[in-house]
Amino acid sequence: MDLQAIQDEALAAIKSSGDEAALQELRVRYLGRKSELAGALRGLGKLPAAERAVAGQATNRAKQAVEAALDARRDELRAAREVGLADHEWLDLTLPARRPRRGHLHPITLVENDLEKLFWGMGYRVVEGPWIEDEFHNFDALNIPASHPARDDWDTFWLSDGNLLRTHTSPVQIRAMRRFGAPLKAVFPGRVFRNESVDATHEAVFGQLEGLVIGRDITPGHLFHSINAILGALLEEGVRTRYRPGFFPFTEPSFECDIMRDGRWLELCGMGMVHPHVLRAGGIDPDEWTGFAFGLGIDRLAMMRYGIDDIRWFHSGDQRFLEQFPCA
Ligand code: DAH
Repeated sequence: MDLQAIQDEALAAIKSSGDEAALQELRVRYLGRKSELAGALRGLGKLPAAERAVAGQATNRAKQAVEAALDARRDELRAAREVGLADHEWLDLTLPARRPRRGHLHPITLVENDLEKLFWGMGYRVVEGPWIEDEFHNFDALNIPASHPARDDWDTFWLSDGNLLRTHTSPVQIRAMRRFGAPLKAVFPGRVFRNESVDATHEAVFGQLEGLVIGRDITPGHLFHSINAILGALLEEGVRTRYRPGFFPFTEPSFECDIMRDGRWLELCGMGMVHPHVLRAGGIDPDEWTGFAFGLGIDRLAMMRYGIDDIRWFHSGDQRFLEQFPCA
């Protein structure tokens, strides 16, 4: 057997091998159990004793040379691969981390928060009432008995148990009067529900903020001043308002407040001096106390403030709409 020829062939193949898998095949071919070298080592026993030592040494030298070449080539291939790795697989640890997406506050929430803050600053407490109301708080106690034609002004979602979804935040007036007594300064923000068809200016679910002030010698002047101050702070300084006579069963006299937007008067909210029947229903003596009340539509204010032309945007859930408003 020509050991030198085998060794030369093996070393040449190892040198030109391109990857570790090919190298492994060469290791099997030249050193494996069925290889010529392994066969030669196995055949040593059959040689005459005089030749055995020399042949054994020669075979082992060839085997070691092939092994060393395999190991060297393997190290070379690995090193080359690691250099290549750095070219296409890398991580820039100086890049800023990706920020989580932040949610945006709904425009109704923004206006409601600001209204609460403004009224809080003027000494009002902020109180919430239940969405599911009874007929007494939503109507009777507000001087709207079952026979009163004004009940038709509030298209009502009646529940099967005789209760209803409140049609306005006014019933919270009664709850607050009974709970806190007089004197009292409070606002009641929250959702209200109307059984109405929806269009660009009407929603079945919308936000109101009710205000109630009970004290001694409260006059409409206090009311107008408070509303003007709030609107000035919420929309813009010096915003123009006008107050017209209106009608609500729970106030006497009643007024409507209009606001000037783009050269036109828009109806903004109802208000008035709390009707003696309503004070009495709240457990307050109308001979001793007077008060004013108002009901602001939060959606309408948000539309004015942000230039929103269709009330249906509010419940659209459209991210393109929502993402235009500030984050929390
Ligand atoms: N509750 C009325 C509505 O939903 C709004 C309102 C008008 C509230 C006059 C008041 C008020 O407190 O005095 O249409």
